[in-house]
Parts: sequence; C-alpha cells; structure tokens
Amino acid sequence: MSDTPRQATILTIHGPNLNLLGQREPEIYGRTGLAEIDAKLRNLGHRWAVEVLTFQSNHEGAIVDRIQEAADQVDGIIINPAAYTHTSIAIRDALLALKVPIIEVHLSNIHRREPFRHKSLLADVATGQIVGLGVNGYYLALRALVDIIGTAPSTTV
Ligand code: DQA
Repeated sequence: MSDTPRQATILTIHGPNLNLLGQREPEIYGRTGLAEIDAKLRNLGHRWAVEVLTFQSNHEGAIVDRIQEAADQVDGIIINPAAYTHTSIAIRDALLALKVPIIEVHLSNIHRREPFRHKSLLADVATGQIVGLGVNGYYLALRALVDIIGTAPSTTV
C-alpha cells in the first residue's frame, strides 16, 4: 500500500470589508477585487504545488471558527484581519493555538496611517508581516510560505 502524501495547503483569510476591495477607498487599497486576488493566489499555488483555500468574513467569530477548523488541515496561513488587526484578542488567541507559519498581510502601510492602525495584535504571533505593497503582499506571502514549508524549489516571485 502506498500512502500518497497530501498536497500542502495554505489558507488565506480576509477580514471585514475586504469583500469590497476594488471599490472601497481605491486610492488606499487599490483597484483589484478580492475574486481576482484569490484566483491569482490559487494559480500561483498550482504553479508552486500547494493548494490555496480562501475565506472572507465580516464577522470576528466566523474568522475564529475558520482558524479553529484549519488546525491539522493546513500547513500555513496568510491573514489580512483588516480592522480586527487592531482590536481582536479572539483572533490572536485562535492563531496562537495553531502550530503552522502565519504571514500577516496589509495592503496599505498601517504604520504610516492613523495612530490606531499602528498597533497589530497579531504582529508577534505571525511568522512575518508584509505591509504597504498592495496586492503583491499576498503573492509574496504565498511565496514565503511555500519556501518555509519547503514544498517546491525556491524561485523568485
Ligand atoms: C488593512 C488595514 C486596516 O487598518 C484596515 O482596517 C483594513 C485593511 C490593509 O490591508 O491595509 O481594512 O488591513
């Protein structure tokens, strides 16, 4: 009997209002919609031999539930918790329970915006943080996770 190892899986989580990407404050968040970002992540995942799952919710509890479900099912997480970055101890605690690498992504540079955005409750839980690079931040995060997990030969994005 041969057990084929399961393909590595990366879960991407998008927090509140990111369903409005493309229309919402495009001068800050850009003109690319969420469906396009998710499709590109899946395509890159295909190229780099990982399965990419995507999830968006405007609800804190739903995000906590999805993180809990992901335990033992995924090999890495990309998360843009949006406004919950700055407020959610619940999402922080859910991520702390995981043992996989986590990359925190923000489209905008939260450090050069309003003071209340400077603090991320996840920054010290995440393996790394990518801010201010727009949608490229998601694709760079995926590349970084692929390298960390070690499923494909290292290449540039
Ligand atoms: C954001 C930054 C947050 O401060 C904000 O609430 C968002 C998006 C970003 O991607 O730049 O909704 O996470």
